[in-house]
Amino acid sequence: MRPHQKIAVIAGDGIGQEVVPAALRVLDHLEAKHGMGIEREVFDLGAERYLRDGTTMPAELMDRFRDEFGAIFLGALGDPRVKSNVHAKDILLGSRFQLDLFINLRPIKLLDPRYCPLKDKGPDDIDIMVFRENTEGLYTGVGGQFKRDTPDEVAIEAEINTRKGVERIIRAAFEYADARGKKSVCMSDKSNAMRHGHDLWQRTFKEVAAEYPHIEPFHLYVDVLAMELVRCPERFEVIVTNNLFGDIITDLGAQIQGGIGLAASGNIHPGQVSLFEPVHGSAPDIAGQGIANPLAAVLSLGMLLEHLGYPEHHESLKDAVAHCLEHQHVTRELGGELGTDAVIDAVIAFLG
Ligand code: NAD
Ligand code: IPM
Ligand code: MN
Repeated sequence: MRPHQKIAVIAGDGIGQEVVPAALRVLDHLEAKHGMGIEREVFDLGAERYLRDGTTMPAELMDRFRDEFGAIFLGALGDPRVKSNVHAKDILLGSRFQLDLFINLRPIKLLDPRYCPLKDKGPDDIDIMVFRENTEGLYTGVGGQFKRDTPDEVAIEAEINTRKGVERIIRAAFEYADARGKKSVCMSDKSNAMRHGHDLWQRTFKEVAAEYPHIEPFHLYVDVLAMELVRCPERFEVIVTNNLFGDIITDLGAQIQGGIGLAASGNIHPGQVSLFEPVHGSAPDIAGQGIANPLAAVLSLGMLLEHLGYPEHHESLKDAVAHCLEHQHVTRELGGELGTDAVIDAVIAFLG
């Protein structure tokens, strides 16, 4: 049975307000053509709402998301007027933690070699799935400040690594590799310096890998991973890593696949409501100009549709994005001349 066929829409801040409505035009088109009957509810959440009435994330909304919705489609959160970033923490990190969206799934896939900054690398060389742990690590806010604003100030940010959390993300990576016929899984940590938490990653990785003898497990320290993703991306099929390292290496990955405007992601708990969003942020430097690249949002919508039980629409959206890249129906940061809406027109024209 398909999960709930209702999606929550949170455009959020900055270019989120541009790329989400743009991508939803593509969903309108798919609805007109295929009639999936996916309901939508739009939520006014983000910096504007917070500055207006102090609301970040209404408490009862998480329960509604869990009970009534199959997926959440989010643009971006972050506004220079909200220095504390409290609304982004409550809405984005709040959803990841409270909905237990433990898999941050971030594909790094080069669709067209012309947009790759690496010499002599093509689509066959850059096709990686990153499994970023999404519910613990350095993101939990555990810690504190002591003697704040004095010369003796102490600030502690604790990294949480639980056996359950580490094991389930590593297992998800192996399950994915197994299901898709991938030959290897790379685990990346910093266990040479971080002897407690990352030793747990080492031991758990070895144990889970032993259950998949046909998949080659290998390990790289995260500094070497950064180097190798640039030197030799074809080494990688599946990467699993912790929350912070996953954040950083997927921005690196976004560039080698053609830029941050093309990087999509899912925050997933299999079988439950999950959240889909572009990897990029609210881009205050270009917000309001109609020039943001909407293709990361389109690809994220594709991942959302796959989660709702429509993998065929995910495939057709990937084909549409590849078509836009091939024919240079792209925004300025990719060397094109089109605005956000014109790129979407090209996507829709391709879908026919
Ligand atoms: P950013 O991703 O917003 O922007 C980095 C650079 O990439 C900017 O030059 C921007 O113009 C460009 N860029 C980003 N998306 C683009 C697109 N679709 N098309 C064309 N160019 C694009 O990162 P930042 O500047 O570090 O962050 C801005 C705000 O967004 C901050 O408040 C940050 O916390 C937040 N943020 C939110 C998310 C999220 O909601 N998931 C992710 C990252 C950053
Ligand atoms: C991302 C973002 C977030 C993160 C920020 C906005 C908290 O950078 O989704 O990649 O670090 O996870
Ligand atoms: Mn990030």
